[in-house]
Amino acid sequence: MILIDGKKIAAELREELKQEVSELKTKYNKVPGLTVILIGDMAPSQIYVRNKEKSANEVGLKSEVIKYPDTVDEKTILEKIKELNDDESISGILVQLPLPKHIDKQKVIETITPSKDVDGFHPMNVGNLSSGYESSVPCTPLGCYLMIKKIEPNLSGKKAVVVGRSNLNGKPMTQLLLKENCTVTITHSRTKDLKAECLEADIIVAAVGIPELVKGDWVKKDAIVIDVGINKTDNGLVGDVAFDEVSKNAKALTPVPGGVGPMTIACLLKNTIDCFKRAQI
Ligand code: GUN
Repeated sequence: MILIDGKKIAAELREELKQEVSELKTKYNKVPGLTVILIGDMAPSQIYVRNKEKSANEVGLKSEVIKYPDTVDEKTILEKIKELNDDESISGILVQLPLPKHIDKQKVIETITPSKDVDGFHPMNVGNLSSGYESSVPCTPLGCYLMIKKIEPNLSGKKAVVVGRSNLNGKPMTQLLLKENCTVTITHSRTKDLKAECLEADIIVAAVGIPELVKGDWVKKDAIVIDVGINKTDNGLVGDVAFDEVSKNAKALTPVPGGVGPMTIACLLKNTIDCFKRAQI
């Protein structure tokens, strides 16, 4: 079984991006800039944002985190986003989710100009992705896609099963696999026989938030299995895939942690650089 080392693949990608930033700096005499807006003091968000900032600096991006207390009003955030939209030194804007209840998530997402939407959450980017046009692609599914391609460069005709239908992961993941000519089945909590669906799959992407849902006998020999889940349990951090069981069957599997997580952040940096490049024309 191949243990898909997300840490290592992400480090390689960061190295490539660092080189690219250095070339862009020579060519344009400026570097891509990423601004992250963080509202409130939720511990997981703080950790994510710190990691994003650290990685951005490591590859040579200009990075900034703007923090607000969770009592901040929606108008202040929307005004700040508009200011960043107009700031030519900013290539990418990310508002860390989740948001406090009094702030309308969709309004926030739609206020970020699509060309700086490094999350790929704006309806314009969602539409462009599903139409097969150039767009920002949400970082987590993009990271999953790059790992799958490392294992299997030619995905044409493969059967893929995506477990979970979220806007963040399942839906964009489906689009990326479709673009590669996979036959994709998107499954979710109302799917009748999830095990039977998974048993058909050459590729399984589990992004459903249920600890160790995908069992060893759900997985065909030689399947590639990507585990997007991060679930806190009494036994520590586990994914959506029963790792020990599935590792006996699968051809390749991502660990949790050390699989998808590091790739998500590296892909955010990639998206920031891609937004910068598109803005230079
Ligand atoms: N919170 C957890 N994951 C994400 C993500 O990919 N983007 C944003 N903006 N917030 C998140």
